[in-house]
Amino acid sequence: MTERAPLSNKISDIAESATLKVDAKAKALKAEGRPVISYAAGEPDFATPPAVVDAAREALGDPANFRYSPAAGLPALKKAIVAKTARDSGLVVEPNQVVVTNGGKQAVYQAFQVVLNPGDEVLLPAPYWTTYPEAIQLADGTPVPVFAGADQNYKVTVEQLEAARTEKTKVVVFVSPSNPTGSVYTPEETAAIARWALEHGIWILTDEIYQNLTYDGARAVSVVEAVPEVADQTILLNGVAKTYAMTGWRVGWMVGPVEAMKLAANLQSHLTSNVNNIAQHAAIAALEGPQDDAEAFRAAFDRRRRLMVEELSKIDGVTVPTPQGAFYVYPDVRGLLGREWKGRRIETSLELADLILDEAEVAVVPGEAFGPSGYLRLSYALGDDQLAEGIARLQRLFA
Ligand SMILES: Cc1ncc(COP(=O)(O)O)c(C=O)c1O
Repeated sequence: MTERAPLSNKISDIAESATLKVDAKAKALKAEGRPVISYAAGEPDFATPPAVVDAAREALGDPANFRYSPAAGLPALKKAIVAKTARDSGLVVEPNQVVVTNGGKQAVYQAFQVVLNPGDEVLLPAPYWTTYPEAIQLADGTPVPVFAGADQNYKVTVEQLEAARTEKTKVVVFVSPSNPTGSVYTPEETAAIARWALEHGIWILTDEIYQNLTYDGARAVSVVEAVPEVADQTILLNGVAKTYAMTGWRVGWMVGPVEAMKLAANLQSHLTSNVNNIAQHAAIAALEGPQDDAEAFRAAFDRRRRLMVEELSKIDGVTVPTPQGAFYVYPDVRGLLGREWKGRRIETSLELADLILDEAEVAVVPGEAFGPSGYLRLSYALGDDQLAEGIARLQRLFA
């Protein structure tokens, strides 16, 4: 008998999402009754605002929502996205420049599929969100990480991008506020990168999913607001997940030049068709309704952020840049490496994260998931008591 033919090489090469893996391990330990505190999740711990849930309930009463709807999104949601894009990204677009996707993740995937040809290079500021390199490779592109450390607040400079540019460079990824670092580029830094991309005809894929979660008066100015001429070579990604505690609803979107969005809509029409109509109605309520709940979430994140930075900074060997956005801190823990803890020699942040889970029952994501070793990502999207208890355990472990 001939051996069964092998599975796809391309898909076999995809790494499992490291953040989901750590979170799943933490949840499994919790299910066994271990008092694990997890800083691994990339989602708000709040319930979706009641008004949004009510809108979904109401949508269930309309049989039109039980049918297929336009693949690129309900017209009413596109209208709400057009208004949001003008308000928060300073860009005026037409509804045919919007494609509503099954979460921001599908927008990331489709954006690369639409822009890249085999061998094209994508400059990827590191530390990066784990999905990026995989989505680039799935589109037959080559991710080219450009690393910025804690000393530069994890923000790349035009000089670094220019040094990595080749004639194959097609796209630069720009995520501000960033997952995993929480860094926010200043308007000047943003404009400099946008001007550089414009000068070289490079596409910008700007992920604005955390744009409403900023602190200390910082504002994440969009590349298209900073340099309006770059809009014709920019795809903006966004969604309701993070701002409105709606990760499970799966509504995101992409905004870009008409030709690019036409390709994305064609792709989506064969891949998933329309996003669940009930969820789309919920997203309309989130975007168009009162923003009080979203603001309360943001204020809570801000308070927790300050607690995290203050307390983590007390641990010797840990450097914690103050993040100005999202809900993550990204301490540089290289000072804890190359040492022995609890009788174990710890050389990498991967080993450190394992030690922390085993000894303190605290789940954190190692820097290896986002780029080089030497860092940890801690999400502060968890209740205040848990937050404080988890840090106290870390302080005891590394005392
Ligand atoms: C930077 C970034 N972009 C996009 C997403 C996608 O979010 P979703 O697919 O839940 O809308 C996430 C989620 O973790 C993210 O961190």
